[in-house]
Amino acid sequence: MLTFFYSYPIALLKMKILMVCLGNICRSPIAEGVMRSKFIKYKFNGSVDSAGVIGMHAGEAPDRRAIKISLHNEIDISQQTARKFNVSDFDQYDLILAMDQSVYDEIAEMATDQNSKNKVKLFLAYSGTHNSGDVPDPYYGGPEGFEKVFRMIDEGCENIIRKIQQS
Ligand code: 4NP
Repeated sequence: MLTFFYSYPIALLKMKILMVCLGNICRSPIAEGVMRSKFIKYKFNGSVDSAGVIGMHAGEAPDRRAIKISLHNEIDISQQTARKFNVSDFDQYDLILAMDQSVYDEIAEMATDQNSKNKVKLFLAYSGTHNSGDVPDPYYGGPEGFEKVFRMIDEGCENIIRKIQQS
């Protein structure tokens, strides 16, 4: 029985991913919605959630521009609710993906042990997309910023699924 458990392919175990940005109303809700749709598309056994490092928008729905670009791509994120990242998330998730370097730095700083810190990755760098770097914050820009961010996140999530399946 034990032998069976340990020889079980890692991709069949449930992978829990947390997407994190600054406010949890633009980038990480898109990333949550996109990754969830990839899980379904590839019949991947995982769960995904999102959070922000500031609590300013906690309890709010995603930004209407994030909802719009997602819907345009057949993904409904309108029922998501923003929340603040919490240290207990280190225990709850296997992989914590930060949308930009400042978010990464802030979360990594909150980790109290190396195992927790190792779970935190920069989203684009981890996915091997766009030669790494940040997913730019689209909050103060126009709709074209949201289109660009959606494409980056979609490509990143696709690459991450492939990476996890190959591990
Ligand atoms: P997000 O975008 O981090 O992608 O959710 C932002 C949302 C809100 C603010 C900044 C960025 N804000 O300053 O309120």
